[in-house]
Amino acid sequence: MGLRIYVTGDTGFVGSRLAEAWCATHELAGCSRQAAPMQAMEHQVVDLAEDPRRMEDLLEALKPDVVVHTAAVSQPALLARDLVRGRRVNVEAAHWIARWCRRRDRPLIAFSSDTVYGDAALEEAPAGGWTEQAACAPAHLYGRSKADMEAAVREQLPSAILLRSSLLWGRSLPGQNSFSGWLLGRVAQDAPVPVFRDNRRHMLAAGALTDMLDRLLGKLLAGGEAASPLQGPINLGGAQYLSREDFARQLFRHLGLDEGRLQAMDTADAQLAEAPARELPLDLNRLEQVLGVLPRVEEWLGTEYPAA
Ligand SMILES: NC(=O)c1ccc[n+]([C@@H]2O[C@H](COP(=O)([O-])OP(=O)(O)OC[C@H]3O[C@@H](n4cnc5c(N)ncnc54)[C@H](OP(=O)(O)O)[C@@H]3O)[C@@H](O)[C@H]2O)c1
Repeated sequence: MGLRIYVTGDTGFVGSRLAEAWCATHELAGCSRQAAPMQAMEHQVVDLAEDPRRMEDLLEALKPDVVVHTAAVSQPALLARDLVRGRRVNVEAAHWIARWCRRRDRPLIAFSSDTVYGDAALEEAPAGGWTEQAACAPAHLYGRSKADMEAAVREQLPSAILLRSSLLWGRSLPGQNSFSGWLLGRVAQDAPVPVFRDNRRHMLAAGALTDMLDRLLGKLLAGGEAASPLQGPINLGGAQYLSREDFARQLFRHLGLDEGRLQAMDTADAQLAEAPARELPLDLNRLEQVLGVLPRVEEWLGTEYPAA
């Protein structure tokens, strides 16, 4: 039986992929600032930076069975440019969503980020990577906004699931926050393609992510034993811990693109105002226990980018 699922940020990379995966089997609704992403779902236009509290009214009007919160200012540089608006979207909107879910007793899955953890290049991480119990010590304001989002959600709804996602990649539209989409956008513009050699993450394909969310939803709604361990933060990522450069080389080889276009550099060379953590190793044991598999990049390259 289909569920009524509300996806915030349904025009974004993650939200649009979830909508695409679920529109045939569930009754979908969602929101963002842009017009409707697809006809098969109800879409509400809202600027959360103007009025984060409106989320509560939007949800009350539709009363979904489950809320999946993906909307965010997802790029650190953008967030830092206007911190007041950025925090309304990334922190305050989540508070109102969690409040509504508590009042109506509905499950909430909210997207957080691995950037809530400290930079393991600077502080000692456990041998297997950061566990969900590690203290949050974000390197930049975006990571701070995600840690604050988690706190705001947990205060309202301790049972919420907080997905601390690593770097995501896969088929996307321009403007969406896919790492591979960004690389291929540079190629399409015939622009240089700078890639960090010293920034490593558990690269995760959007297709694998939607499969994981499907399984998570199934367990959550089955209730009882299956759902009981499902609350609080869960690290989310793929099996391999790769540098952005190594991932880009794998993608370029898959697509037959000239690797000579890649310009490998250190993060320090880019002189970013909001420098990212270089090392974010994650302990993915909890994810593996909950969902059973850790996807690998090569398993998803052909699905995300089929050969021409
Ligand atoms: N992509 C990654 O690699 C990655 C990694 C770790 C965590 N995450 C987290 O995963 C979630 C999904 O990310 P994503 O990759 O899908 O990001 P994205 O492609 O940038 O999409 C963000 C979504 O939020 C909406 N949004 C942004 N500002 C808004 C506002 N003021 N009012 C209403 N809606 C607004 C956007 O729509 P409009 O612009 O149309 O408003 C869009 O639908 C985010 O919480 C992100 O922080 C992503």
